[in-house]
Amino acid sequence: MKPHIKYAGGKRGVLDQFKVIFPKSMDFANYYEPMVGSGAVMLGIYDRLKNDVIIGDASPRVCAMWKGVTHYPVAVSEAVGYWADRYNGATEDVRRGMFEAARTAMNAGPRLGFCLVPAEMFGEGHLLGCVFDAAVFIAVNRTCFNGLYRVNQQGKFNVPWGKYKMVPQDLGGRVYAVGAKLNEGSVKVEAGDYRATTHGAIEGDVVYFDPPYYKNFDQYTTGRFKWPEQVRLCEWAKELAEEGVKVFASNSSTPEIRDLWSWATCHEIQVKRTISCKAETRGAGVELLFEGGPTPC
Ligand SMILES: C[S@@+](CC[C@H](N)C(=O)[O-])C[C@H]1O[C@@H](n2cnc3c(N)ncnc32)[C@H](O)[C@@H]1O
Repeated sequence: MKPHIKYAGGKRGVLDQFKVIFPKSMDFANYYEPMVGSGAVMLGIYDRLKNDVIIGDASPRVCAMWKGVTHYPVAVSEAVGYWADRYNGATEDVRRGMFEAARTAMNAGPRLGFCLVPAEMFGEGHLLGCVFDAAVFIAVNRTCFNGLYRVNQQGKFNVPWGKYKMVPQDLGGRVYAVGAKLNEGSVKVEAGDYRATTHGAIEGDVVYFDPPYYKNFDQYTTGRFKWPEQVRLCEWAKELAEEGVKVFASNSSTPEIRDLWSWATCHEIQVKRTISCKAETRGAGVELLFEGGPTPC
């Protein structure tokens, strides 16, 4: 299943390589993905996940989107479908206005209880706050420049309009397909730091960490993700692996990262391109996937 949103650092393009490396059977494992973004990996291996799936992210808006889509797939997909129909039939000025109104609404959230919906957004009436927040996130994501998610130091989303004439006609349907699938299963969404999301992982469980890459884009959250964070994440992953948790983690192919994760098995992942303009993260088209913890018998 493909994600319904775009995401910087999204793993859709490398999923086939991941599928070969990830355990084929996870019948008894709970699966944790605490830096979930667009959910490309979780959705890509969803059919292998038979137990609890725990996803999270430090971005409260990303988590609100996942909660809305997972708990209210019908309502969110209908709101998104309504918005997409209006956007696709509108003039350039109206489309720009729709994007700006949605971005303003996103920056004003989150909403509790029911909220009155501006008629020009999702049709007249009230929506549950979490449905509204999820639909707004998806509308902004699909119409902002390159689907980038970037916040300033105050936490305000600040990506401009992408000037797109159309969003996919079936966007509402795509949202429904993802949400309905997750709604059937046992998916929990936990907003916050990866340590809190994965503290319940026990022997036999599987955790996949996909942090902002070292020396790469890290403006998903106000906290950013500098070298001390890379070290903290690696130490936590090692601790989990020593407790018998199967751990996977992605990162850029730099000498510092290879050295930091030298305790884990390193898989080289071929990538077509990176968005970085820095020489050390561009070039060879290789990223790394580290694997730690027990080997299957
Ligand atoms: C490279 S992106 C993940 C992309 C995702 N795997 C996908 O396929 O779309 C990194 C994610 O880590 C999240 N993040 C950054 N710091 C975090 C932290 N301390 N705890 C949890 N998530 C964090 C960001 O909000 C962002 O969504």
